[in-house]
Amino acid sequence: MSLIELKDLSKEYTYGESSTYALKNVNLKIYGGDMIAIMGPSGAGKSTLLNILGCLDKHSSGTYILKGKNINDFSKKELSKIRNREIGFIFQNFALIPEYTVGENLELPLLYKNNFSIKKDKLNKEQRMKLIEKALKNVLISNLIDKKPSYLSGGQQQRVAIARALIANPDIILADEPTGALDQKTGQEIMNLLKEINKQGKTIIIVTHDSNIASYCDKTINVIDGIVKN
Ligand SMILES: Nc1ncnc2c1ncn2[C@@H]1O[C@H](COP(=O)(O)OP(=O)(O)O)[C@@H](O)[C@H]1O
Ligand SMILES: [Mg+2]
Repeated sequence: MSLIELKDLSKEYTYGESSTYALKNVNLKIYGGDMIAIMGPSGAGKSTLLNILGCLDKHSSGTYILKGKNINDFSKKELSKIRNREIGFIFQNFALIPEYTVGENLELPLLYKNNFSIKKDKLNKEQRMKLIEKALKNVLISNLIDKKPSYLSGGQQQRVAIARALIANPDIILADEPTGALDQKTGQEIMNLLKEINKQGKTIIIVTHDSNIASYCDKTINVIDGIVKN
């Protein structure tokens, strides 16, 4: 069974009288363990597709099935829970909270997860610290736990963001231009890390307009003017 299935999915934006399709009749299947690149020119609909896959945005028509369940049937609260449990996000600009240390940035998804958990499943401080240490070790920056993001290089900040995406142990990692703000060598290091995480069993979907980045993936999906070709 596919992990993700889109059937005739469209996203329409309306501006007063007129409207435009950011995505049109997308049909797509993604399987557990896939590492997929989404490529296409600027304005093609890549981010729209990724945001819909991540339940950050809702489609206008068609069907999105995630792990056998129709997303249309979920309330806003249930969608928040799915985002927290099933999906980790990585952005081009890292999106770390500047006032928080690395450790505190990583603790946030765990505190958020506690909100959705029944009492016996809530993680206490010690359990949270263990998970934070493990996540930082996995991305090779254990020594940076008490530093604030501004102290770190771009590559180190993206490692923190990757650790944050993984900490609640989601099956799916979505990355929008994860190397877009990094130099080429650092970008390659980040892609090697994502490849390693894919080998650990995570399904990874990466938006990029760089074919070198796409070459780390097993499959490329092309988006042009809202039409997906795969
Ligand atoms: N919130 C929005 N409101 C209106 N139009 C939008 C919005 N987000 C994206 N669009 C439009 O949808 C199309 C696809 O955008 P996007 O998914 O951001 O493209 P990409 O990530 O491939 O550059 C563009 O024409 C863009 O202007
Ligand atoms: Mg985009």
